[in-house]
Amino acid sequence: MAVNARKVAIIGCGFVGSSTAFALMQSGLFSEIVMLDADRKKAEGEALDISHGVPFSQPCEIYAGDYDDIADSAIIIVTAGAAQKPGETRLDLIKKNVGIFKSIIPEIAKRNFKGILLIVANPVDVLTYAAKQLSGLPDSHVFGSGTVLDSARLRFNLSEHLGVDPRSVHAFIIGEHGDSEFAAWSSANVSGVEISRFCEMRGFYHDHDQAKANISEEVKNAAYDIISKKRATYYGIAMSAKRICEAIIRDEKSILPVSSIQHGRFGLTDVALSIPVIVGKDGIENEIPFALNDDELKKLRDSAETLKNTIKSCDL
Ligand code: LAC
Repeated sequence: MAVNARKVAIIGCGFVGSSTAFALMQSGLFSEIVMLDADRKKAEGEALDISHGVPFSQPCEIYAGDYDDIADSAIIIVTAGAAQKPGETRLDLIKKNVGIFKSIIPEIAKRNFKGILLIVANPVDVLTYAAKQLSGLPDSHVFGSGTVLDSARLRFNLSEHLGVDPRSVHAFIIGEHGDSEFAAWSSANVSGVEISRFCEMRGFYHDHDQAKANISEEVKNAAYDIISKKRATYYGIAMSAKRICEAIIRDEKSILPVSSIQHGRFGLTDVALSIPVIVGKDGIENEIPFALNDDELKKLRDSAETLKNTIKSCDL
C-alpha cells in the first residue's frame, strides 16, 4: 500500500480527537484528514464543523471515513478510548482501553498499513506496547505521545518561574506518562545554562530543590487539576500530537520524549515509555545519549516496573 505523505487519520472523535483534527487543519501539514469514530454521525459532525474553518486556513479535505479510507495514511493517530474521570488514574483505564484497541488495531494491520501509528489514548505507554503487539508494525513506526505534553508543561512552568520564553527552556519529563513520571533535572537548562545556575543568575537564591519539587509535582498533577476544573484535557495533548506530526512530516529529526518500545537502554526492555529520541520521517530514527544521575536512573527503572506490572495484567 503506497503511503500518502499528506494524509492523516484520527481514530476517535471525542474532545482529544476533534481538538487534534482542529490543530492539524490549522498546521498546513496535511491536505487530507480522515476522522473515524464508532459514532459515525459524531465523526461527520466534527469533520464538517472543522471544514468550515478551512477558508481561514489552507486547503485541506476533512471527512468522516472508515478503515478502508485510512490504510494509505502517512500517520494514523489513535485517540479512541475512555478518558480519566475525576480521581481516576490513567492506569485505571487499562482494561477498557486495551479491549477497544483489540478491536481497532487489527483493522489497521489487516489493511497492510505502512505508515506511522501514533498512540494518544491513555494509559499511553501500555497502549503503545499493546499497539505494537497487535499491529506487528516495526517498533520505529509505533509510538505514543508519551511525556511530550508533560515536558511542555514543565517548560511552561519553568518559563513562568524564571521569566523567560518557554522555547528557551530545555527540560524533559521522562518515564511513564502518569504518576511515576519524573523530571530529569540533571540535564535541564535554559539556553545551555544549568537550571540552578540560571536561577542564581536571575537572583533567585531560595531553595532550588524545593522549587524543583514543587514544579515537578505541579506538572505530574496537571491533568488531575484540569479534569477537576473542566472534566477533561484536550488542547495541550492536541498541540503535542500536532508537534509530533510536524517532526515526522517535515522530517525534522527533532528530539522528543515520545513513548517508544525500549531495546535495552538503561537496562529496559519489553516496555514502552518516554526517553528523548530523534523523530523524523521514518518515525523513531535514533536513540540519543541521555545522561541520568543515580536518583533519576532509579526513578526510571521504578517507572518501567510500574508499567511492566500493568502490561502483565493485560491479556496481550
Ligand atoms: C493529560 C492527558 C492527555 O495529561 O493524559 O492531559
